[in-house]
Amino acid sequence: LSTGDNTILIFGASGDLTARKLIPALFKLSQKGFLNERSPVIGVARRDKTDEQFRNELRESALKGNDDKDTAAAWDTFAKQLFYRKVDISTEADYASLHESAKALEQQLGTKADSPRVVYLATAPALFDDAVRGLNSAGMIPELRKHRDRLRVVVEKPFGHDLKSAEVLNEQLRNFLHEEQIYRIDHYLGKETVQNILLFRFGNTFFEPLLNRNHVDNVQITVAESIGMEGGRGAYYDTSGALRDVLQNHVLQLLCLVAMDPPALFQAREIRDEKMKVLQALRPGSDGSLKSWAIRGQYSDGLVDKQPALAYREEERVPSGSNRETYVGMHVEIDNWRWAGVPFYLRTGKRLPQRVTEIAFQFKHPPLNLFSTVECDGNLCDIVEARPNELVLRIQPQESIFLRFSTKRPGMQYHVQPVAMEFDYEDHFSEQLPEAYERLLLDVIRGDSTLFTRSDELLAAWKFVEPVLQHWETTGSGLEFYPSGTWGPAAADRLLSNTGRSWRQPKV
Ligand code: BG6
Repeated sequence: LSTGDNTILIFGASGDLTARKLIPALFKLSQKGFLNERSPVIGVARRDKTDEQFRNELRESALKGNDDKDTAAAWDTFAKQLFYRKVDISTEADYASLHESAKALEQQLGTKADSPRVVYLATAPALFDDAVRGLNSAGMIPELRKHRDRLRVVVEKPFGHDLKSAEVLNEQLRNFLHEEQIYRIDHYLGKETVQNILLFRFGNTFFEPLLNRNHVDNVQITVAESIGMEGGRGAYYDTSGALRDVLQNHVLQLLCLVAMDPPALFQAREIRDEKMKVLQALRPGSDGSLKSWAIRGQYSDGLVDKQPALAYREEERVPSGSNRETYVGMHVEIDNWRWAGVPFYLRTGKRLPQRVTEIAFQFKHPPLNLFSTVECDGNLCDIVEARPNELVLRIQPQESIFLRFSTKRPGMQYHVQPVAMEFDYEDHFSEQLPEAYERLLLDVIRGDSTLFTRSDELLAAWKFVEPVLQHWETTGSGLEFYPSGTWGPAAADRLLSNTGRSWRQPKV
């Protein structure tokens, strides 16, 4: 896993993401020996700041209250490779001096000549164009194919607001960069349990033969959050909504991983080709009106974790009459040989009863329902429907995989009892699960783009959600309210109930 020397430039270094995620992740990588002391990390932003101020500002969030002697000493070592340079991202002239600074710092730390440079654009997407133009004007974008790998540019979401704007962003980046130099982050792909989906499916033989239309009745993907608009996020969220913020990226990426066919090789191109095929085969789950397969809701006030929660429209920096959705539910299908006819139900929302992300495969009922009723003492005293077998991949929290199946409850009758066979990460592994950003930054440093979204995947995902966005925005229709602390609007249940199905109630 040797990673060599690297220079890392973070644009947007005064922002929240840098302090909360990027620097703590780089610090962890340095502690684990993946980022050596010859690799400068240069924060870039508009404000005036010295290196010392920058280091002090970041210390607390990197240490996360863990101020023991060893960690503090490790931070002091890491801080020596941490620098700050003032740059106005839209001023082309600033890039020449940034390039000079980078070269001087590389010399100071003894970075090996021609080592890769990683530019992390933790800025608003509207600035991506200025950033790559600036890098280009300063001669920081290597021209020759064999040198391309010297520059890797990481971009954060939101990558576009709709299909058109995503295409424009792509063009802006591709004016100066090659696709293999662009790393589009979807932090869900960096989660340990999400990476395990492929290993679980294609590194075992038990399950894969069952994961298709012959055995699976339906698949449910849930990304539920109990939080609302904490930290003044309302202003951003109100321009986005649940469909853009989570479903278009995180949920569709999960869908691709659970539905894709095995790649010919476990490599970036082959894996992303298979994911792309899923997106190409994706279609609405009903031929009827849009509301028969895509629904939306917004939270009203209520109780979450027994605490009173404000309505979305009363949240800080949210317009009082906002029609933005905080919940989206969808019934989609994948028109391919493996999945034709199997409903995939997707849902994500804020202010739901608990934070849980999981993927549940519900299997078909046995062909005969031999155990549906139970007689006791000659009376019909209990009726227990055998519940469908389930395979659940719990992504967070309490990361686990479990199988739910029916057993006979001990006693004189055939009394059906659903039970679970469970693998829990915490019980099996003593290691702490790495943070998503740690893994993703390490992959950028290693030049491995497997866990990043390729441009065709991204555009296919936008293309799929585009009609829904347009319909909601032009008609303003279909917004239903749900009390905070409940599982979303009634319309979400209607997506399934007309076929006799219902949402799984995750118990964490
Ligand atoms: C982000 C969204 O991409 O993902 C947030 O912008 C959301 O609104 C977050 O809260 C969820 O991520 P996680 O890792 O907490 O499940």
